[in-house]
Amino acid sequence: MCGIIGYLGQRPALPILIEGLKRLEYRGYDSAGVALLEPSGLEVIKEKGKIFVLERILNGRSFSATAGVAHTRWATHGAPTQVNAHPHLDTTGDLAVVHNGIIENYQFLRRYLSEQGVAFRTDTDTEVLAMLISHYYDGDLELAVRRALSIVEGTYGIAVVHRKHPREIVGARNGSPMLVGIGEDEYFLASDVAAVLAHTRQVIYLDDHEMVHLKDGTMHTKTVTDEKVTKSVHEVTWDLESIEKGGFSHFMLKEIFEQPATIRDSFRGRLLPDEGKAKLGGLIHNMEELRHLDRIIFLACGTSWHAAMIGEYMIERLARIPVEVEYASEFRYRNPIISDETIAWAISQSGETLDTLAALREAKTKGALALGICNVVGSTIARESDGGVYIHAGPEIGVASTKAFTSQVTVLAIITLLLGRMRNMSKDQGQELVNELQAIPEKVERILAMDECIRKIAAFYAESNNFLYLGRGINYPVALEGALKLKEISYVHAEGYPAAEMKHGPIALIDEKMPVVFVSPRGGSNQKILGNMEEVKARGGRIIAVVNEGDKAATDLADHVIPIPETVEYLSPLLTVIPLQLLAYHIAIIRGCNVDQPRNLAKSVTVE
Ligand code: G6P
Repeated sequence: MCGIIGYLGQRPALPILIEGLKRLEYRGYDSAGVALLEPSGLEVIKEKGKIFVLERILNGRSFSATAGVAHTRWATHGAPTQVNAHPHLDTTGDLAVVHNGIIENYQFLRRYLSEQGVAFRTDTDTEVLAMLISHYYDGDLELAVRRALSIVEGTYGIAVVHRKHPREIVGARNGSPMLVGIGEDEYFLASDVAAVLAHTRQVIYLDDHEMVHLKDGTMHTKTVTDEKVTKSVHEVTWDLESIEKGGFSHFMLKEIFEQPATIRDSFRGRLLPDEGKAKLGGLIHNMEELRHLDRIIFLACGTSWHAAMIGEYMIERLARIPVEVEYASEFRYRNPIISDETIAWAISQSGETLDTLAALREAKTKGALALGICNVVGSTIARESDGGVYIHAGPEIGVASTKAFTSQVTVLAIITLLLGRMRNMSKDQGQELVNELQAIPEKVERILAMDECIRKIAAFYAESNNFLYLGRGINYPVALEGALKLKEISYVHAEGYPAAEMKHGPIALIDEKMPVVFVSPRGGSNQKILGNMEEVKARGGRIIAVVNEGDKAATDLADHVIPIPETVEYLSPLLTVIPLQLLAYHIAIIRGCNVDQPRNLAKSVTVE
C-alpha cells in the first residue's frame, strides 16, 4: 500500500528519495512522485505507473535540494492518474503533502473549503488535507498542520513541506505507520523501515496522534494536541542484505528458499528438548492468564488467517482449548462476546493491517487480553498488544506471503506446546513435538530440491484457467493457502475447499480442463481423500497430489505427484505448503506475471 519517504540533511535529496521509493515498491502502488525543496522553490514531479517512469521524467534535470518528500500511491479515492498522484499541493503551490490512509470527512472539509473559494484539481482526500493545512497557515508550518489535524477524521501518515520552510518537514501519524530514521546530521521520515535501512538503523516510531517536526538538524516530537512526547530510539536488527534479492530472480522465490532458515529462526532458543517444553519471552508476563484462559480468538486477514486456522487445529487437538478464527474485518463490526478469560490473539506479518489492529482494539475494549504474533518488530500491533511472539522471519518483500506463513505456523506450534504442557500434554508428547519441529527445516530443503520437477508440473498446467485445491483437517487451510497463492500472483481463478465438501457443489465444475490439487499427507483423513480423488478421476479431472513419499494408492490415481517427507500430521502444513508456493510461483512466471508486485495487491493493507 502507499509508501512515504522524506529526507532532511546535507546530501542531495533526490537520489535518497528515489532509492527509498524503490525499497517501498514491494508494498504495491500505481503512481509515484517527489516534492523537492529547491533553492528556487518547491518542485513537484509525479507520474502514474512505476518508479522508472518517474525516473525517466527526472532524467537530465538537475536538482540541488537537500530536503524533500516522496510517495508511492495505491489508489483509494480517485483513479490512478498523474493528477491524483502525490505529492498534493495547496492553491499557491507552496505547500506539498504526501499522505497514507483515508481522510473520512474529506467531503465535508472539501465543501467547507470550496465555500471559502478554494478550487480543487483532483478527486483525492489528500488534496483536501493540503488545502486545509494551507488554510490554517500563517507562517508557522507545524501549527498549521496541528490545526488541520484537529478537525480531520480518519487515518493518516503524512509528511508536509513548504517553500517558505526549506529546512523543515512536519510528519504525523494516526492509524498509518510513520517512523523517523536518525542519521548523522540527517533525518529520514518514512512509513516503512525498509525505506531507511540503507542509511540508518536508529529509528523512532510515532504513535497515533503524534507528530514530528524536523528542523535543521533537530527533531521535536509532540501530540497533535501540542503535548511534548519523548520517544525512545530503537535499533533495527534487519540488515540491508535481507531486503535485497541475493541472486534470486524474485523476492518471492528468495523467500520460498529461505524457509529452512526462517523456520529455524522462528523456533531457535524457544524449545526445551529435555523437558518437552517451550519458552516464549514475549509471553513471560502473561503466564497466569495463559494458564486460566477459556477461549482463544485468532484475529487475522489473508494468509495470516490461514495460519490461524492451522493454529486452531493444533491448539484444540493438543492443548484442548477452544479456539475461534475470525476474519478481523468481520469481527470488529459484530459486537463479539468476550469473557474475562478470553484471549484475543492477532496474527499479522506486517503488524499494520488496519482491520486486524481495529479488531484487536475492539477485543481489548471488551476486556480481552490482547496478544500478537507479528513479524515486523515495533509494528503497531506488536506495540499495542499486552504481550506476544515475534516470528523472526526477517523482512518479507514479496507481496504473496510465503516465509511469514511457515514462521507463523511454527510459532503457533510452539504456542500449542506451551499451552498444552500447562494442561494435559505429556512430556513424551511435548518431546515428540519438539523433535519433529526441529527436523522440519531439513525436510523443507528436500522439497525445495524438487523445484525443477514442480516447475515442469507447472508448465503442464500453466494454461488452465481454473484450479481446485482440496484438503482435509489441518490441510484444509493449506488448500486455501495454495489457492490464494495462485490467485494472487498468476490471476488464475482458484478455489480451496474441504475435500469432502467437493460433492456439495464444486464437483459440478470438474472436467478434463480442471486441475485438482489434493493436499493429502498421511494421517487421519488420508484414506478418505482417496475416495475424493476417485470421484475427480471418474469425472475426467486432472489430479496433482501432494502426498507422502511411498503413498502408492494416491500415486496410482494422480496424474502428477509431488512426494514430500513424513512428519506428524499436526506439523504437515509446514511441508505441504512448500510445493504449492512453488507451483503458484512457476505458473505465474510462465504466464508472464509480475510475481513480486501483483496487480491491485498491497503488501500491507492499512485501509479498511
Ligand atoms: C495483504 C497481503 C497478504 C497478507 C494480508 C494480511 O492482503 O497481500 O499477503 O496475508 O494482507 O497481512 P498481515 O500483514 O496482517 O499478515
